[in-house]
Amino acid sequence: MRILLVSDIHGNWQALQAVQDEFDICLFLGDLVDYGPEPSPCIEWVRKNASYGVRGNHDHGAAQRINTMGNVGFRYLTSVTRPMTIENLTEDERGYLSSLPLTQFLTLDGKRFMLCHASPWDPMDEYAPPDLNFWAPRLEGLNVDYVCVGHTHIPYTLKVGGTTVINPGSIGLPRDGDPRCAYAMIIDHDIQLKRVDYAAHLTMQTVHDGPLPPMAKNMLEEVYTTGKLKMR
Ligand SMILES: [Fe+2]
Repeated sequence: MRILLVSDIHGNWQALQAVQDEFDICLFLGDLVDYGPEPSPCIEWVRKNASYGVRGNHDHGAAQRINTMGNVGFRYLTSVTRPMTIENLTEDERGYLSSLPLTQFLTLDGKRFMLCHASPWDPMDEYAPPDLNFWAPRLEGLNVDYVCVGHTHIPYTLKVGGTTVINPGSIGLPRDGDPRCAYAMIIDHDIQLKRVDYAAHLTMQTVHDGPLPPMAKNMLEEVYTTGKLKMR
């Protein structure tokens, strides 16, 4: 079985289209919206292709029309892109984001999966690093083969006892210094963290043609170009 894991798409339609691997089932790990300029085609793709999905903190915030305050870094970018996201979404799309569960448990190919955006203890917001001491207590009692998470925008796999934690990284806004689109495939129980180039210049053009303040446009361009954000 070929299982595709996608997470943290963040309205970057050009990046999502670069995922061309054939799959039997797709799992979505949250954060369809905010930051990027084209949430709607991303939502449509996930609705059509992902058999299971969970809600990210950004999906929740946009669906509930929560405006945020932030002066620096990604908090600033959230505060200025959230109103644009809310404006762009239809009622039906917001309803879909609201309907996504916080966690999902499922069995595929004889393996038990738990899906959540951030961590089992705090499904939408906790930052979960690839650290055994962090993960061990959070996996107690779960009794699954795979825990699949996103949120950090940094891909990793981590074996903790009988469970493997998989973070496929971010489709639309990588933060690990590699600007390419990140995702994962599990093919016949073999986990592959994948990176692929995409037409980032088209995403940046859409950002530059849009309504964001010049500083936000420049910050997004930096992340799309370098895979990190130094600019404050
Ligand atoms: Fe995210």
